[in-house]
Amino acid sequence: MSTAKSLVPLRFSLVGPGRVGTSLAHWLVARGAEIVDIGGRNPEPTASLARQLGASPAKIDRLQTGGQALLLLAVADPALESVATRLADRTQAAVVLHTAGALDASVLAPLRAAGSSTGSLHPLMAFPRILTDPQEAAGSVFALDGDPEAQALAHRLALSWDGIPVPVPAAARPIYHLAASLAAGGVVTLLAAASEMAHQQGLPDDIMKGYFALARGAVEQASRSSDISSAITGPVARGDLDTFRRQIAILEKLDKSLAQAVIGLANLTLRFKSEQGDPGDRPEAPTGRSGP
Ligand SMILES: NC(=O)c1ccc[n+]([C@@H]2O[C@H](COP(=O)([O-])OP(=O)(O)OC[C@H]3O[C@@H](n4cnc5c(N)ncnc54)[C@H](OP(=O)(O)O)[C@@H]3O)[C@@H](O)[C@H]2O)c1
Repeated sequence: MSTAKSLVPLRFSLVGPGRVGTSLAHWLVARGAEIVDIGGRNPEPTASLARQLGASPAKIDRLQTGGQALLLLAVADPALESVATRLADRTQAAVVLHTAGALDASVLAPLRAAGSSTGSLHPLMAFPRILTDPQEAAGSVFALDGDPEAQALAHRLALSWDGIPVPVPAAARPIYHLAASLAAGGVVTLLAAASEMAHQQGLPDDIMKGYFALARGAVEQASRSSDISSAITGPVARGDLDTFRRQIAILEKLDKSLAQAVIGLANLTLRFKSEQGDPGDRPEAPTGRSGP
């Protein structure tokens, strides 16, 4: 391990040994950090992870991490505020970081008032299960906010895992997280809609292999483009609104709400294309009813 990546001699504790907390604890330990205590409400998983990593299991209401560099809070979003309050009447680590994307550092206000620097370290990646290998984080974005000392430590952790630290200030946090949901769940929702449309037409399941291949290619192309809108393809993007109108007229008879959503997307395509200053055909809105 290079010295730049080493987290020796960082000492830290974890509250919330779920998927994210357990993963990040493994990644910290893999870089040489020393884990001291693990606080959890459920004794068995807490004790089991503590045994695995050589830490001590602790009750959240007893945990005291004063003198340590970091306390990582990876509890469910709705529990963060109350857990922060429950921890704040004892001395806690110099820096406390939470891992929620939708919340900013202010949810840790009681700990800040008690003397810790507070911030957030949101791994912009999915944890369908515990990911023990820090290689999983390589190339992933980590969204940071909070006090300078907290952000500096969060920045160092992200770099130690070959991640990409990106400051996301408190005011931008809700829309940052909504956009993240659009980039992940939103794309899958569109694929689910494509699947439903194909099934409605009685097409065999294999058709989805083609749609997934198209989606992978489109995402790959968009990620390589300096202007994402230049990577949008399809009749609307090409200005062929006659084709789009014929297709949408059929869909409207089959599924009105889906047709409305598709018209909304087409209008977005037109907006992005016109902002791009596309020199080609500048079509009118796909329908008179929901123009941009
Ligand atoms: N999953 C993801 O893909 C992902 C990605 C990035 C960030 N995050 C964020 O990371 C944080 C943890 O998410 P996760 O996916 O790791 O969730 P998780 O696997 O469900 O783990 C949540 C942890 O919080 C504990 N917890 C829940 N309510 C609590 C309470 N009232 N008091 C004390 N502890 C409580 C749980 O304890 P029990 O075992 O007792 O339930 C568990 O240890 C969240 O802020 C989430 O938004 C998640």
